[in-house]
Amino acid sequence: MAAGPGGGGALRQGLEMLLLLGALLGAAQAAVYFQEQFLDGAGWQKRWVHSEYKAERLGMFKLTAGKFYGDPVRDKGLQTSENSKFYAISSRFKPFSNKGKTLVIQYTVKHEQKIDCGGGYIKIFSSDLDQKNLSGDSRYYIMFGPDICGSETKKVHVILNYKNKPHPIKKPIRCKVDGYTHLYTLIIRPDQTYEVKIDNEVAASGNLEDDLDFLPPRKINDPAVKKPHDWDDRIQIDDPNDIKPEDWDEPEYIMDTSAEKPEDWNDSVNGKWSYPMIKNPLYRGEWQPRQIDNPNYRGVWPHPKIDNPNYSPDYNIYSFENISIIGLDIWQVRAGTIFDNFLITDDEDYAEDFGDETWGETKVTEEEQERERVIEEKYFEHFFSQLSL
Ligand SMILES: *[C@@H]1O[C@H](CO)[C@@H](O)[C@H](O)[C@H]1NC(C)=O
Ligand SMILES: *[C@@H]1O[C@H](CO)[C@@H](O)[C@H](O)[C@H]1NC(C)=O
Ligand SMILES: *[C@@H]1O[C@H](CO)[C@@H](O)[C@H](O)[C@H]1NC(C)=O
Repeated sequence: MAAGPGGGGALRQGLEMLLLLGALLGAAQAAVYFQEQFLDGAGWQKRWVHSEYKAERLGMFKLTAGKFYGDPVRDKGLQTSENSKFYAISSRFKPFSNKGKTLVIQYTVKHEQKIDCGGGYIKIFSSDLDQKNLSGDSRYYIMFGPDICGSETKKVHVILNYKNKPHPIKKPIRCKVDGYTHLYTLIIRPDQTYEVKIDNEVAASGNLEDDLDFLPPRKINDPAVKKPHDWDDRIQIDDPNDIKPEDWDEPEYIMDTSAEKPEDWNDSVNGKWSYPMIKNPLYRGEWQPRQIDNPNYRGVWPHPKIDNPNYSPDYNIYSFENISIIGLDIWQVRAGTIFDNFLITDDEDYAEDFGDETWGETKVTEEEQERERVIEEKYFEHFFSQLSL
């Protein structure tokens, strides 16, 4: 009965087995294909490859937590360090296919430099990418993340490759434009639905086929059916009771009889002098009858639809073979963006937890936001004082 050292050992071994089993089950639930938090100092330099394509145009990344942070070590990430440069860097992992599985791509972006124009997106590539030759022309599977340029572009890209062509999402998704760390997540499911989350909140969701124009439409207007001639779809018509006033028509230009012939006018040189033409103040333009609601309006004609003969479903739009590289391939006017907490997994819950632990724990406190706001105001003050010079 006495538990000898041997018995205790067996018990401990049993417990360890159970723990191991638990860990294995846990691992079986979440496949983590890639995870990068830059926690080992210079170690990242062995895992990430700078492109050498047109190297003179490329800027360097450096590892830093930036000007402000929640945690000086955990918030370290790759920062773009030179203005008006291209950036191209990538990291390779064991190839996998997302066929029949959910694919989650997630990372954090912090534009602490008050970005005015620059990409903050990532790209996912197949195993055959030549990393040293990574450029904007390299074919990618997926492009995802924020892009800011001036007041026009402030969006989250979702672009999927299908049959060697990039298909961008049709829905506008607004990205964050402030200087804090934000978490961007793309989820692609085997039922061909997708979800974009920012800071673990849904920013867009839908069906890939509906929102990305991969396939021709399922239904088209029946070309054999024409709109009936008596179908009146004019919302408004001319008011038959509105008559053109008799004094309406006036010429647009008239002679300026108040003008005088200049003294130095010489008919034999300048030609015969005549009054110049001026705009007629009485001119009222072309007469238009008043518009009234059409009493015979029948609404938009419902064109009967038929199945599109050119449509055939594809249930594998979402799936990619040999997914093996994650990369940054961007241009930045003002550098300073920090990329961190990259994750590629098949498990939405794992990604959400990882997001909360990385971005959630290290996002800046209110006090730090306040400090940052003061810096921002100073920056704009300076900016505008320069403008008014
Ligand atoms: C590198 O990429 C460029 C641009 O895409 C391409 O023209 C060139 O052929 C590539 N070079 C090699 C060695 O693959
Ligand atoms: C008009 O111009 C012609 C040709 O240059 C000249 O011979 C004539 O004297 C001019 N007439 C006047 C009134 O200046
Ligand atoms: C995936 O990569 C392997 C090894 O390079 C290759 O044999 C296979 O053809 C690739 N599959 C696709 C679909 O590209």
